[in-house]
Amino acid sequence: MHDIIRQLDRMRAQARLGGGERRIAAQHAKGKLTARERLELLLDQGSFEEWDMFVEHRSHDFGMDRETVPGDGVVTGYGMINGRLVFVFSQDFTVFGGSLSEAHAEKICKIMDQAMKVGAPVIGLNDSGGARIQEGVASLGGYAEVFQRNVLASGVIPQISLIMGPCAGGAVYSPAMTDFIFMVKDSSYMFVTGPEVVKTVTHEEVTAEELGGAITHTTRSGVADLAFDSDVEAILMVRRLFNYLPLSNRERPPLRPSNDPADRLERSLDTLVPINPNQPYDMKELITKAVDDGEFYELAPDSAKNIVIGFARMEGAPVGIVANQPLVLAGCLDIRSSIKAARFVRFCDAFGIPIVTFVDVPGFMPGTAQEYGGIIRHGAKLLFAYAECTVPKVTVITRKAYGGAYDVMSSKHLRGDVNFAWPSAEIAVMGPKGAVEIIFRDEKNDPTKISAREAEYREKFANPFIAGRRGYIDDVIMPHETRKRICRSLAMLRDKQVDNPWRKHGNIPL
Ligand code: HXC
Repeated sequence: MHDIIRQLDRMRAQARLGGGERRIAAQHAKGKLTARERLELLLDQGSFEEWDMFVEHRSHDFGMDRETVPGDGVVTGYGMINGRLVFVFSQDFTVFGGSLSEAHAEKICKIMDQAMKVGAPVIGLNDSGGARIQEGVASLGGYAEVFQRNVLASGVIPQISLIMGPCAGGAVYSPAMTDFIFMVKDSSYMFVTGPEVVKTVTHEEVTAEELGGAITHTTRSGVADLAFDSDVEAILMVRRLFNYLPLSNRERPPLRPSNDPADRLERSLDTLVPINPNQPYDMKELITKAVDDGEFYELAPDSAKNIVIGFARMEGAPVGIVANQPLVLAGCLDIRSSIKAARFVRFCDAFGIPIVTFVDVPGFMPGTAQEYGGIIRHGAKLLFAYAECTVPKVTVITRKAYGGAYDVMSSKHLRGDVNFAWPSAEIAVMGPKGAVEIIFRDEKNDPTKISAREAEYREKFANPFIAGRRGYIDDVIMPHETRKRICRSLAMLRDKQVDNPWRKHGNIPL
């Protein structure tokens, strides 16, 4: 018996060493933690239950039969984050570069299947050179098995990806199908093919960082949500994100009691909107003043900054915030902001998280770049997302709500449950200047007449009362009572039930 125990200890020690001391040192020298060190930080202390530590690959080609490492380059199992269950896999770059073999894929699939059965999220820590080259199609099959599970799990359990090393080829497509992607600056990369292949095929000279680094994906492509300076920071922020999410679509999002009074008044909001309608202001000030304890977990802050998305709490319950940002492009909706917000709205809807929408939007962005890029289809994504969404929806129009963008931003017509406007709201087909230039085209060379017409239009339409008269706005509220009114609305909507008609699935304009 003692021999067996000693053998078990030996085998465990060997598995824990992964690719060996030399490769662990190399991993540390790059400023990266090992697969196991990352899990220790991610999970509550002592909560990790490891599975499949002794799994090995079954490949014989290219001398692989002489090179087996217990665990085969991925550490899998389950544990707790703040006492709540989560399934995890953490790829070990010290073992064949974290590359995915058939056996490695089976380990990931096993925890994904279990997570689906019990209804708990999956967090993947990705650090992988892609398909295990020595295994060929067996590895490709393994990837596809993971992809299939990613798709079936989408909207059932939250899936979060941390990119913590080079992720190439198949290694990027599984994360791409998860709900959130976090990256680490200067040590993580995501690309379909690396710089060398790019050079051969397109003759472009580009560094790994430029092609698929954390800055590229959080600013240009929008593939990743957040970029962090280190593994430690990224992992701690995933723990915080986890606190907003339900374990599955079968349960409500977690409550965290707050001492912040639901009826707290914020007088400073009464002067947030400048008198000059063309002067910007920071919508994030309204967000932080309205939510519990000023805590706003912003997602994708560095891409499509004209729209702000993220999680917060109201009376302890998680909410998704979507807000136009007048500081950037005057808060216009363009292709990238529509996609960013649409995806977030759908996530909230899938997981029963109410949506609070703050509106100050002059319309869709005009121009050839937008039209050629397909603003019609991409803008329709946000429209579609809000319209199909059945979670509680509370909307506050602070200033402009013009044209199609008025309709899109969680309007009454798209089943907005409670729609408020501040007295400064201007709800109209377009701004006074544009409107007058069209209706009174023949007076356009007479500046005095035109400015009189503009004033008349502003007086008549640039206010919340016309919409209020039709019931499109439930109430015109004082800015300082915004938090109180949203909290009451959400409390009233707590047990809201609305079903969409049966169908296999809709056809969102992808
Ligand atoms: C097997 C691999 C590997 C792979 C790396 N290694 N990638 N082994 N299969 N895909 C091994 C290396 O041989 C090396 O072994 C160790 O991992 C570390 O790799 P290095 O190259 O020394 O590290 P580094 O310089 O940091 O470069 C990392 C890298 C590079 C950028 C990931 O290794 C690389 O380009 N790898 C190949 C990437 C790739 O083309 N993958 C296939 C994509 S196709 P030793 O023994 O020296 O430590 C694909 C298809 C799926 O994924 C498509 C599904 C849609």
